[in-house]
Amino acid sequence: MDKIRAAITGIQGYVPDYVLTNKELETMVDTTDEWITTRTGIKERHILKGEGLGTSDMAVEAVKGLLKKTNTKAEEVELVICATVSPDMVYPATANIISDKVGIKNAFGFDLNAACSGFIYALVTASKYIESGLFKKIIVVGADKMSSIVDYTDRQTCVIFGDAAGAVLLEPDTNGHGIQDAILRSDGSGRVHLHQKAGGSVRPASFETVANREHFVYQEGQAVFKFAVSNMADVSVEIMEKNNLKAEDIAWLVPHQANLRIIDATARRMGLAREKVMINIQKYGNTTNGTIPMCLYEWENQLKKGDNVILAAFGGGFTWGSIYLKWAYDGAK
Ligand code: UT7
Repeated sequence: MDKIRAAITGIQGYVPDYVLTNKELETMVDTTDEWITTRTGIKERHILKGEGLGTSDMAVEAVKGLLKKTNTKAEEVELVICATVSPDMVYPATANIISDKVGIKNAFGFDLNAACSGFIYALVTASKYIESGLFKKIIVVGADKMSSIVDYTDRQTCVIFGDAAGAVLLEPDTNGHGIQDAILRSDGSGRVHLHQKAGGSVRPASFETVANREHFVYQEGQAVFKFAVSNMADVSVEIMEKNNLKAEDIAWLVPHQANLRIIDATARRMGLAREKVMINIQKYGNTTNGTIPMCLYEWENQLKKGDNVILAAFGGGFTWGSIYLKWAYDGAK
């Protein structure tokens, strides 16, 4: 028997119905479909509309679907980790709200905030609970209602983001499948380039912070781009080298979807052809913690047992990292 590894044994994604196209954005801010497409690769993104709806409502759809398709009872789940930067509330954790809405009663849960790298941080965290031998069923959710923290008068950021949620079930595997290795990094000095100015303890909400539009994503795009391109590619190459993987050994790269140019640069450095790269940024934009699970969800049917898969992300913090996993089931079944 091989050592205990954490394997993804099911995946479900969710995007809200409303589609915000580049054309519609042209009517909201001084931008063009051509600029957005050539600079980012994005054509449209989904937005959660409706009074009183938050990140948990999208996550709940993903988790309910996941439980159904994996024949898992809510009461069997032992831990729920929600990676998000747009929690329903500052506290309690959105993971707990999701669990309550879904009927997960025998679990504990917490949120994890590592910006766009949150899903892979959460996956690695969850994998350690599985590898300990103490936990058998863990749900990791990546979910963000970015539209709740995006300024739709700021053309530099509002064209980029969208809303989505994705959830995976993690279970023990002793046949060599599952998470093989991971490299996670952070550099807090990068916070100046990408953050939300108000709403935290340093600058609590006030009339002034609202008037100054400080409760929205602040991003210095070019600076973030520079770090994203080099760090996401570096960490993806590093995990290949560490595990003696050549480009031909890799079935899929699952990159965080922030910018098509960052994705292409990463794939190029890894020596991978576009056909091996999951790309859906054109349909969803950057959904922060939703990007990687949404890719896995959309490509599930093409994933085969034993496939070598690399997940890679870069985000605010700065945070970045990569995971090498062996896919544990034939998705087409
Ligand atoms: O997911 C987490 C981490 N985030 C990222 O990885 C994002 C990294 N950054 C990026 O993807 C890119 O920097 C952006 C897509 C955000 C911006 O693309 P860019 O090629 O770096 O553009 P830029 O910021 O250098 O702006 C170029 C020009 C500027 O005009 P001037 O100064 O040259 O006259 C901007 O004002 O484009 C202008 N611009 C726009 N024009 C039309 C900025 N946003 C827009 C817009 N439409 N939406």
